[in-house]
Order: sequence, then C-alpha cells, then structure tokens
Amino acid sequence: MWSSNVKTGAELSISSIPASQLAKEFGTPAFIMDEADFRMRTAAWNTALGNAFGNNAGTVYYAAKAFICVEVARWIKDIGIGIDVCTGGELAVALKGGIDPAKIEVHGNNKSVAEIEKAVAAGVGTIVIDSLFEIERVASAATKHGVVQEILLRLTPGIEAHTHESIATAHEDVKFGFSIASGAAWKAIEEVRRHSSLELRGFHAHIGSQILETESFEISAERLVALLAKYRDEFSVELPELDLGGGYGIAYLPGEVNLDPASTMKALAEVVNAQCAAHMLAIPRISIEPGRAIVGPTMFTLYEVGTIKDVTLENASTRRYVSVDGGMSDNLRPALYDAEYTAVLANRTSTAQKISSRIVGKHCETGDIVIREIDLENDIVPGDLLATPATGAYGRSMATNYNHVPRPPVIAVKDGKARVILRRETEADLLGLDI
Ligand code: LLP
Repeated sequence: MWSSNVKTGAELSISSIPASQLAKEFGTPAFIMDEADFRMRTAAWNTALGNAFGNNAGTVYYAAKAFICVEVARWIKDIGIGIDVCTGGELAVALKGGIDPAKIEVHGNNKSVAEIEKAVAAGVGTIVIDSLFEIERVASAATKHGVVQEILLRLTPGIEAHTHESIATAHEDVKFGFSIASGAAWKAIEEVRRHSSLELRGFHAHIGSQILETESFEISAERLVALLAKYRDEFSVELPELDLGGGYGIAYLPGEVNLDPASTMKALAEVVNAQCAAHMLAIPRISIEPGRAIVGPTMFTLYEVGTIKDVTLENASTRRYVSVDGGMSDNLRPALYDAEYTAVLANRTSTAQKISSRIVGKHCETGDIVIREIDLENDIVPGDLLATPATGAYGRSMATNYNHVPRPPVIAVKDGKARVILRRETEADLLGLDI
C-alpha cells in the first residue's frame, strides 16, 4: 500500500520529509512519488524474471500507460529495462527520456498510420500487431524505411480474468488482438508470413489488470505455448519469443498484499517449462509488461481538506462528507471501476474518536468520490491533509481537466530531497488551448 520510505503513525513523512512540508512547498493536491521505491520495484520484477527464466529471460517492459513522464523515462533508461508504449504520445516521452528504441515495444489496437510510421522510423524493437489492417500498415512502413520490423501478434487466449469487467482483456468478446479459439490468430499468422518486411518473433497476451492470483496467467502461458507448438508443427520453425503481458495486482486497502514478483515469475516459469517439455519445444524468451505493480505503490496523493458537512440520512443517521481539493479529475478509478482506496490524516496525529466519513472531491458531480466509506478522526478540520496511498498507477496518467481543474504535479522524493518531476498544470496551460 504505502511505498517503502513512507512512515505513518506520527505525522506522515516520506524519506523523512513531513507531509505538511511537502504541502507547503509544492501545494495540494499533489502526487508524491518515492523514487527509490520505484527503482526497487523495477529491479525486483527484473530480477524475478531473470531468476525464474535464466537464459530464457526476455525483457521487462514497463507499461508506460500506468504512469510516464520524461524523468521516469530517464530512470527506466538508467535501470536498463524496456518500455511498453501504446500511443505516439507515450512513444514521444520514451524517446525524449533517451530510452534505446530497441527496448521499446509498441502496442495499441488502433495505431494510426502516422504512429506506425513514427515507430518504425525511430527503430523500435518490437511492434505488437493487433489487427489484420495493421499487418499491412506495419509491413508497408517497414518496406518504406527499408527495414525488417520485428513483430509479435497480440492474441486473446480466451480467459475470464478475475478482475473488473472494464480491465479484463483476454476473453473472446474484446477489441484487442486475435482470438486463438476462433482461428483468427492462425489467419493472422498466415497473413504475416506473406510479408518479407515483417519478422514474426512470437506471441503476446495481456489478460487484464489488477489480477491477484497467478492461475489466469498460467492458463494464458499454457495456451500461447500450445500455439508455438502448432506453429512449429506446421512450418517446421520455432518462434523465439513470448510476451506474457502485465496485470499483476497490488494492495490498495489494509490487509491486501501485492502479487509477489519472485513467486509469480516462478509459477509462470514452471508452467512454461512444463508445457515446452510436453510439446518438445525449446523454451522461448519470456518478456513481461508490469505497469501497476511497479508504479502503483510508489505514489500517494496528498489532498487538503476544504469543507466538512454532516448530512442527515433518511434513517436519521448522519453521513460526514469530507471534501478535498482534488477528486475524480486526479483519481478516476473509483468512478470508473468502483475502485477502493484508503486514506490517513497526514499532517498530525489525532486520538479523536473515528467517525464514518465519505471523502469526496470538488467536482460538480455526485459520483466524485475518492473513498465511499472510511472511518476518519472526528476532529478533522479544513486545512488538514489527507494522504491516499497506491495512486501511482492510472492516477496522474488518467487525470483529466474536468471542471477546468489543472492536473496535479508529481513530486519525486529521494534521500530526503523532494523535487518536481512533472509540474502542476496552470490555468494558463488550460487557456492556452483556446482560440
Ligand atoms: N500490457 C498491455 C498490453 C496492457 O494493455 C496493459 C494495461 C499493461 C501491459 C499493464 O497492465 P498493469 O500491469 O498495469 O496492470 N486503467 C485501468 C487499467 C487499464 C490497463 C490497461 N492495460 C485501471 O486503472 O485499473
């Protein structure tokens, strides 16, 4: 839930900097990011992949969609892992951060011709092809640039992952990839083989996000290996790569636990090794694309309380509404997925009795809820700070300007020092779009 350098209990602090000092210096709302924790989690997934798969370990591609800015792209470059981008915008950030194009993997179910052009021209390592149209488009971009583009085919292995409907991606009725069961995947394979400017390296599947058990990943891996075997049987060559995607879940609430990198990778390796042995296949290079599991726990959101209102309900009980200075514009996940978060009083300790409260934002919408129900100290007053942990993934990256609210900054903290890595948007930024 909290990143490793956060201390709660007394006034909340990160790397010894008190929350109140951060609020004073950088304002609220703000995403506070634990840089050392980000590096540690990245290394943990990289090491886990390496330990589990040994010489067959491919690349950890950090899923930029969870959160990216140029400074974080520089960290990725330093650490030496790869990155998964799914738009021209994410690609631009990765390149600006200096990431080696060979370590960039390009996703997207509707990459524009311009995005494909840009990716091929930049020399990206892998393009993950998602539709028959795209086979033609990537092939023609590669021909134009005189290169043979390495590609993976995105497949849907027909799995009902245990997660929210909107973030499950590998059952049959989805927009992503080619279904294995229906034969669409095979048709795509045959189509790709007609193009000499494309080199099919293998298959990719991403079964969904915030998945907290390994079984669905294992079934997906099993089905991909079976298709590698079918490919070998048909064409007498073995494809060298599988990318098993991201989706590893994290703890949002007290009592929950993150999916552990080492045991998750070990479970996957066991399945891949056993299936390859059963099909008499060489073990392919295995890559993964964790986003949330790396960046999710590394940030918390710091809000200031603005108003408090006790509302009498029909049954004569009261509900306390605590309004903070952000809301659905910086955390869309409760409204989109009924996602649940926790929060703590961050600028002081209080022994006051706790009272059932609802933390809401400042937007003109009833659904603008940060936390539907939480017990908060009943002496909370305007000006107090609340911190919501585990907002690093799909928080700032899905932030909007709803109600013309400027998006919050990201403040990186390391070794007792805090700095802005993504500045707060201003009203001038917003007005700058008007003609
Ligand atoms: N690879 C691919 C191809 C993906 O589509 C995704 C996420 C990932 C990797 C990274 O998944 P992760 O490890 O972060 O779970 N906005 C939603 C999550 C959408 C995920 C979309 N794809 C949320 O806030 O829960």
